[in-house]
Amino acid sequence: MSPRPALRIAVLVSGSGSNLQAIIDAARTGTLDAQVIGVISDRPGVLALERACQAGIPAITVDYKACGSREAFGTRLLDELRRLDPQLVVLAGFMRILPAAVVDGFRGRMLNVHPSLLPRYPGLDTYRRALAAGDAWHGSSVHFVIPELDAGPVILQYRIPVRAGDSEDSLRARVQAGEHRIYPRAIQLVAEGRIEYRDGRAWRDGQPVTVPEITEEDAG
Ligand code: GRF
Repeated sequence: MSPRPALRIAVLVSGSGSNLQAIIDAARTGTLDAQVIGVISDRPGVLALERACQAGIPAITVDYKACGSREAFGTRLLDELRRLDPQLVVLAGFMRILPAAVVDGFRGRMLNVHPSLLPRYPGLDTYRRALAAGDAWHGSSVHFVIPELDAGPVILQYRIPVRAGDSEDSLRARVQAGEHRIYPRAIQLVAEGRIEYRDGRAWRDGQPVTVPEITEEDAG
């Protein structure tokens, strides 16, 4: 049997790109059967674009501000994505709500990582909100993207205990370390054909995902 060709992925970014780096590294070391065929940023000059260049990956900017309107941005972004023709679009620290046309163009073929244990805390400031609520646990979720913000079905979660004395920064550092593990893993499940989006749900190995796989930080 011939080996499965690497999954062709495009990564959308807005900032530092540490998740992008984790994906690039996993593909390089062979734990992820994927090829990053392009990185698109909605902001010029961000570190994520530099990471793409360093890895020899086409680095594309679709500058939201220069586009003048949300619609124009959506059209440009969709053009770039169609040109790249990825099998999967991966949002990695992409800090903009996507126009519905873009989500619809890749329905069931777009993932996001969000720093909370969804459905808790969609949107911004998740670390502050979790601390303010006195939550015992925080974490991150990989989910399919649907037009509603951070509301698509969850595939994997990473969970950490909130420790006495935790700050937003300390929580963020531990959550992001976990994201760098679960995001390549979730993409690998897609590459293996084990995860799919159907009828508005995530399916794993043919079964609906009701409780997402959870990876926990060692409490010690
Ligand atoms: C990640 O923590 C992700 O959960 C959130 O934005 C952050 C981006 O980090 N959506 P990076 O750009 O991957 O370093």
